[in-house]
Amino acid sequence: MRTQVGIIGAGPAGLLLSHLLHLRGIDSVVVESRSREYVERRVRAGVLEQGTVDVLNEAGVGDRMRKEGLPHHGIELRYGGAAHRIPFEKLVPGRAITVYGQQEVVKDLIARRLADGGKILFDVPDVALHSPEKDPYLTFQGERLDCDVIAGCDGFHGVSRASIPEGVLKIFQRDYPFAWLGILARVPPSAEELIYAHNDRGFALHSMRSPEISRFYLQVPPDTSLDDWPDERIWAELRARLETVPGFTLTEGPIVGRDLSAMRSFVAEPMRHGNLYLAGDAAHIVPPTGAKGLNLAVADVRLLTAALAEYYETGSTALLDAYSDSCLKRVWRAQHFSWWMTTLLHTFDADDAYGRRLQISHLDYVTSSEAAATTLAENYVGLPFDFGA
Ligand code: FAD
Ligand code: DHB
Repeated sequence: MRTQVGIIGAGPAGLLLSHLLHLRGIDSVVVESRSREYVERRVRAGVLEQGTVDVLNEAGVGDRMRKEGLPHHGIELRYGGAAHRIPFEKLVPGRAITVYGQQEVVKDLIARRLADGGKILFDVPDVALHSPEKDPYLTFQGERLDCDVIAGCDGFHGVSRASIPEGVLKIFQRDYPFAWLGILARVPPSAEELIYAHNDRGFALHSMRSPEISRFYLQVPPDTSLDDWPDERIWAELRARLETVPGFTLTEGPIVGRDLSAMRSFVAEPMRHGNLYLAGDAAHIVPPTGAKGLNLAVADVRLLTAALAEYYETGSTALLDAYSDSCLKRVWRAQHFSWWMTTLLHTFDADDAYGRRLQISHLDYVTSSEAAATTLAENYVGLPFDFGA
């Protein structure tokens, strides 16, 4: 078999890349280790930046997102017994976020690729990547797929980054001393906007998926197990961390999903080795507090599409050569923002009284200074794609 671009991974990065390439007349094959059902059900991100929404709309895959997605024009920071709204409409006029589940984006992209005759191979557990420097090809299940270029879109634990020879990549990493317990509940959201709550017991986040479904996250110890979290304990902890302002009551109901995520910051540089281009979580991870991971994946594949289109249309490799540096500008801005939101909002060492005072001082600053609040708002809704260029 032969294709122009061999794509490993059918997450948001791989699927969107395949679709955007198709719109530019470039052929690709997506190879995914899991089943279609699995990738369509995997509950993860929920917050789409304005730029991500624009890319999906311009690519003609935004119909359901426009109908079912929930536009939000602010978030709440809750701490010290008070609620503080960060009003996007005032601080960053014309820019907002849309709450729409990552698995819905994935479903929309798969449906569109298949309707357009695109090739997505699911349930392929043994993809191997060969000769990335010259004449690259993939092998799997006795097949060989020759490609001009390979796109490694296979997430943090995939084979793409791992197949790059030792010594080529520079790794930057920070681990955090806590994890997130994600909860999906069949219950109407208890507030209209997302609530980021800083609390002595740990961070809590109130989010949603629809008028009937709520999504919550709790800061938990890194070695906790899902068995440690029966429903009653989850609701008690959410109440303790969220019911801290007068008049707020958490609506409770059946829990229909729970998951644990490690919290990590990670960047591998450069995002290219020969004819292998890394995109999304394969190249970089952020802790989810800033809601940036999926959005960065979209920004990467947008640039990779432009670079490949220029190459196929003119023979120029200028944008391909610039790909890694161009992506990394945005990646590092998001790294800083995600680290900052994480350190601002989580509870670290209970004995570090000085550190806790600093956190409260910084929260007070963000919630009382328009300049500081604007910094949060413009990063949260997403900086323009040409930021820093
Ligand atoms: P992935 O989604 O990981 O996709 C990679 C694909 O490759 C998968 O389908 C995988 O099965 C496949 N694969 C792996 N190995 C192989 C292999 N060897 N061969 C073939 N296929 C393979 N981001 C946001 O922007 N906003 C948010 O609100 C947000 N919230 C989050 C909340 C949580 C709890 C978590 C965990 C993440 C959150 N993120 C958020 C991050 C976001 O989910 C990821 O950044 C996003 O999934 C990255 O997309 P991707 O396509 O690069 O990687
Ligand atoms: C969601 C996830 C996040 O990481 C975040 O910061 C906000 C919302 C969510 O899944 O809804």
